[in-house]
Amino acid sequence: MLDTRNRPLRDLRISVTDRCNFRCTYCMPKEAFGSDYEFLPRANLLTFEEIDRLARVAVSLGVTKVRLTGGEPLMRAGISSLVRMLREIPGITDLTMTTNGSMLTRHADSLAAAGLDRVSVSLDAIDDDVFRSMNDVGFGVRGVLEGIEAAAYAGLGPIKINAVVKRGVNAHAVLEMARYFRGTGHILRFIEFMDVGTKNGWRLDDVVSGMEILRLIHARFPLEPMEPMYAGEVARRYRYADGAGEIGIIASVTAPFCGGCTRLRISAEGSAYTCLFASSGRNLRSLLRSGSGDAALQTTLEELWAERSDRYSEVRSEHTDRPERVEMSYIGG
Ligand code: GTP
Ligand code: 5AD
Ligand code: SF4
Ligand code: SF4
Repeated sequence: MLDTRNRPLRDLRISVTDRCNFRCTYCMPKEAFGSDYEFLPRANLLTFEEIDRLARVAVSLGVTKVRLTGGEPLMRAGISSLVRMLREIPGITDLTMTTNGSMLTRHADSLAAAGLDRVSVSLDAIDDDVFRSMNDVGFGVRGVLEGIEAAAYAGLGPIKINAVVKRGVNAHAVLEMARYFRGTGHILRFIEFMDVGTKNGWRLDDVVSGMEILRLIHARFPLEPMEPMYAGEVARRYRYADGAGEIGIIASVTAPFCGGCTRLRISAEGSAYTCLFASSGRNLRSLLRSGSGDAALQTTLEELWAERSDRYSEVRSEHTDRPERVEMSYIGG
């Protein structure tokens, strides 16, 4: 099954909640996500059974990799039960989760026991003050580091650590992070600040390019490029010349990777999006709840994919004024 740009469907990213206990300034800034913000009502969230059904259909269409995201996926009650259900689907070779790590010490064992393969943890700085101000709820670095260790101990590694870099905020902390994670076996990845949604006040000037990040690290700890782990990998990989492990650079602003984009995203309320920067999705929940069978669901996904032509990151400059655009916390990272 190929889209209009000959890209197959391989990855399914499922947001299980639009809520998060952090208010990262680049994702859920407090001004926009304040105490009066209306999150999705419970009844609108897909149930685990509905997610499972959807995932099975997607796997029958070629999906092999499933990622649970949010918001913060660990805020969804009983999330390990969902992992257990998905684990039983034959054909999923990579079952992962993106989390902010703040609740991982509590959940790592049950996630691993349920069959999760690995986790990616977001952590933007190793400097406590910088990190606290970036998550904007004063959550300390230590809690996340403990979560990372708990996950590694539970067998959820190698763990990828995702750091969004913003100029004037944590760009100066890049080298410190690299130093900290060298030799730990965890894979640190730096992400260019993106213009997802409409609420994070994105400006091109705030983007620190992947090249700049690379130069910074290379000057202190020489790096060598590595081959991608798989076709279409979003991160470009580099290894430390001294053998202290690898890092990744996700340069979706300065070096877009739409050509290899095989991702379908499902929001927590069951809408399907074929691009992170889409303004509207296809409502699958009503279909799931209409009493029609899996065949109808399959046809809808086939149609959606066949029509797909998205390549937002490649044509970003032509879209400076698009008013609507879904938020990352809604569609999943
Ligand atoms: P692995 O399977 O571990 O390689 O993870 P991944 O490469 O799928 O990366 P992950 O899901 O951890 O995504 C890391 C970050 O890359 C996200 O938080 C986004 O910032 C960015 N990203 C991931 N997918 C896309 C995409 O399709 N488009 C764009 N523009 N950015 C993406
Ligand atoms: N730019 C880049 N990455 C972002 N994320 C959230 N918002 C942005 C943004 N504006 C990523 C974070 C986190 C994941 C959930 O989404 O890196 O790891
Ligand atoms: Fe929450 Fe992750 Fe968004 Fe931060 S980036 S607000 S942790 S969903
Ligand atoms: Fe895929 Fe859209 Fe990201 Fe391009 S911008 S890689 S099409 S999600």
